[in-house]
Amino acid sequence: MNRMKVDFDEILERKGSNCIKYDAVKQFLGSDDLIPMWVADMDFRTPSIILETLRERLNHEVLGYPVRQEGFFSSIMDWELNHHNWKVERDWIMFSPGVVPAVNMAVLAFTEPGDSIIVQTPVYFPFFTAVKDHGRKLVHNPLELKDGRLCMDFEDMEAKAAAGAKMIIISSPHNPGGSVWTREELQKMADICLKYNVLMISDEIHCDLVYDPYKHIPLASLSESISALTITTLAPSKTFNLSGLSTSSVIISDPVLRKKFSTVLDHLHIGGGNIFGNLASEAAYTHGYEWSRELMAYLSKNLDFMQEFLDSKLPSIKMIRPEATFLVWLDCKELGLNDRDLTDFFMHKAKLGLNPGIMFGPGGEGFMRLNIACPKEVLKQALEQLHAAVQQL
Ligand SMILES: Cc1ncc(COP(=O)(O)O)c(C=O)c1O
Repeated sequence: MNRMKVDFDEILERKGSNCIKYDAVKQFLGSDDLIPMWVADMDFRTPSIILETLRERLNHEVLGYPVRQEGFFSSIMDWELNHHNWKVERDWIMFSPGVVPAVNMAVLAFTEPGDSIIVQTPVYFPFFTAVKDHGRKLVHNPLELKDGRLCMDFEDMEAKAAAGAKMIIISSPHNPGGSVWTREELQKMADICLKYNVLMISDEIHCDLVYDPYKHIPLASLSESISALTITTLAPSKTFNLSGLSTSSVIISDPVLRKKFSTVLDHLHIGGGNIFGNLASEAAYTHGYEWSRELMAYLSKNLDFMQEFLDSKLPSIKMIRPEATFLVWLDCKELGLNDRDLTDFFMHKAKLGLNPGIMFGPGGEGFMRLNIACPKEVLKQALEQLHAAVQQL
């Protein structure tokens, strides 16, 4: 019998642990009388091998400035080669305290104020501020919903690239919607970017959260010329629930681009990192694979459960079944509510804390994003609350 070794069913009390999802829910969503299913972290315990690694380091009892150990680098190289068939070299790996800071640094390093940068809406909203807050021009290349999947619009992309865009920022796999970009899609995008010299920022933070039978393909693994025009961001934070350790990496194969990026990193003086993040990242990438497979099996069951619940009891809400990520993009248009009323409905009637689709930009109207990285009982309770609220509409 194929038994799970990790108990993902256990309901852990997160309130009072200084986490945004539970402890700042009132501050951000205006109410705490709800089930929080918003911030993209998980209600599961971080893998025990990582916790043991951190405990062991604490025994040393001196927490001075760290230096990244060789295992930090080699574990990333091994992970990418073994699980994503991408050969990364040691020198290509740079540190960032987060993927969002990395995207912001890339904007600062490789573009000038007034430059156009393409984003594919609806998309993870910090991409918008990374562009606009540095005085760059945000150019939308909206994704198209085709047969229940968000797809790239290459014609529109080419028009925007031809009009002079300097950079495109993609989420690969995509948040929200969970599309795992295929080799063909990535190749088509890269062909356009190579033709017009558009630098590609490939945010691959969700790359290890892919459901069977889909397969993540690192953009930079497609060819040397594509790699030379790509900045990849990676992190163990989503896969292993380590977001509080602020540790991610940036992979740049081109030495000129790497130098430019490292100059910004050095100027901001944020390349140091922290001892716990450095060690946790190595432990995760070295020992975490089996745990991550158990996680995916559990999330996949949550998805199945949710799909069946919606199909049988709540057909007015349609789920865009994600190919990756624990974030479910819910099409709520049939409820007939405008976006303000939809947000109010979820919060005050269903008593669920979700992200309103409009946060993710154009294309998010009528959608809500729900985080299923919780024990099944919690998801069941949430869906029952939603069902009861829809009955009252
Ligand atoms: C696509 C994407 N990029 C980046 C992040 C966050 O990255 P970090 O916490 O490392 O800044 C998220 C979190 O949800 C995300 O979905």
